[in-house]
Amino acid sequence: MDNVTRLQYLEAMGIAVWLPRVAVDQLQVPDAKVKLTDNWESLQAEVSRCKRCDLCETRKSTVSGAGNINAEWLIVGEAPGLSEDQQGLPFVGKTGLLLTEMLRAINLAREDVFITNVLKCRPPDNREPKSHEVETCKTYLLREHALLKPKIILALGHVAAQALLNTQEPLVELRGKVHALNDTPLVVVYHPAYLLRSLLGKRKAWEDLKFAMQTVKNCKG
Ligand code: URA
Repeated sequence: MDNVTRLQYLEAMGIAVWLPRVAVDQLQVPDAKVKLTDNWESLQAEVSRCKRCDLCETRKSTVSGAGNINAEWLIVGEAPGLSEDQQGLPFVGKTGLLLTEMLRAINLAREDVFITNVLKCRPPDNREPKSHEVETCKTYLLREHALLKPKIILALGHVAAQALLNTQEPLVELRGKVHALNDTPLVVVYHPAYLLRSLLGKRKAWEDLKFAMQTVKNCKG
């Protein structure tokens, strides 16, 4: 996304921010530092050879979570798209650029957070994940959560929110509230892909992000 478009997005969201740009290639891939029965290395290795559902037939790469393994923020999207499938990293396409801007609006750089998806493989033609795919793949997400122990989870869009909260409630009912996954507070925000399509959604997204920031502040006391 060029600077002009980026500034238009921020303006539409009612945000005036300017922070140094963070290159996508500065993303860190998690390494094994967790001394538990589970660890990042074995989790990533399992994901990379996963054949639990048919998506393994059409994927080019698996896409494990990436970022700071000491992060307070766990950001959860839906599923890899074309760019993610090609590069093997989450949120590196057009939607990823908007996510970077959303994070930047709340003073977070990509390397401050850990970003992942409900699905680790791209659904063909970017179709919505099927419920059996979500159920099958969710164990990887729950393991990422257990390893990371974040202070807050940001669920991007209805697929992530419904998967994490085991609910069918629509996004409009889920946003604006503090939910929990085990003991971790969870806030639901609009998915950046939706924001690419809807200018109206951008203001609401900014409200959601401010709400998430306030939730973290409240948790820290
Ligand atoms: N890219 C991702 O990695 N996840 C999404 O949900 C959308 C785009």
